Amino acid sequence: MADRPGRARGRFITFEGGEGAGKSTQIRLLADALAASGIEVCLTREPGGSPGAEQIRELLVTGETGRWDALTELLLLYAARRDHVQRLIEPALARGCWVLCDRFADSTMAYQGYGHGLELEKIRDLHRIVLGALKPDLTLVLDLAPEIGLARTRAGGEAERRGGEDRFERMELAFHERMREGFHAIAKAEPERVALVNAARDTDAVTAEVASLVRARLGAAV
Ligand code: TMP
Repeated sequence: MADRPGRARGRFITFEGGEGAGKSTQIRLLADALAASGIEVCLTREPGGSPGAEQIRELLVTGETGRWDALTELLLLYAARRDHVQRLIEPALARGCWVLCDRFADSTMAYQGYGHGLELEKIRDLHRIVLGALKPDLTLVLDLAPEIGLARTRAGGEAERRGGEDRFERMELAFHERMREGFHAIAKAEPERVALVNAARDTDAVTAEVASLVRARLGAAV
């Protein structure tokens, strides 16, 4: 879709990290801060974010851990992602909205690549086929030891609250440790796009660092 003349394309910010790292809280706080500074914000999530992708989400996040083989899981994620990008993300960016997305393609590299062991190059190829060169302008990885994050989600009764959406949480600890290493590797490989934020601190400290990164890297007055 063509950008609306006279209005700059919006910025695309993604939040990433393991289970229980506080992404949903931080993304909401950043959305409020950006909106207060006069920026039009569109808050969304993956898997999901469009009606079709939300239906695919249900297939991915509920049920037996071994419900899908790794490649099938990858294809479901990219089917959902294409629908989400075409129907929501691209049109929003084109009309000047700042899109804040709770997880995006780096989750696929970390979970399906590092976690399940799919070849990283295969995932990059699929990304190019499905989405071309689309990349976030800024990615904030909320970094936390998986045993702490998983304990937080269990203590908070997260799975029950979200209708049994705990298929990945039930995967073994070693899977979550590989996934965290994946996020570290992504941040190291692309430091200009991806920042690691220590999520073991209290909410206010994390919020302040998120705001300062968005100010410094994207020039927003938050
Ligand atoms: P959420 O708990 O942050 O809503 O995300 C749902 C789950 O989906 C989470 O456990 C991670 C998983 N996931 C992947 O495995 N690969 C992906 O590409 C995405 C977007 C999510």
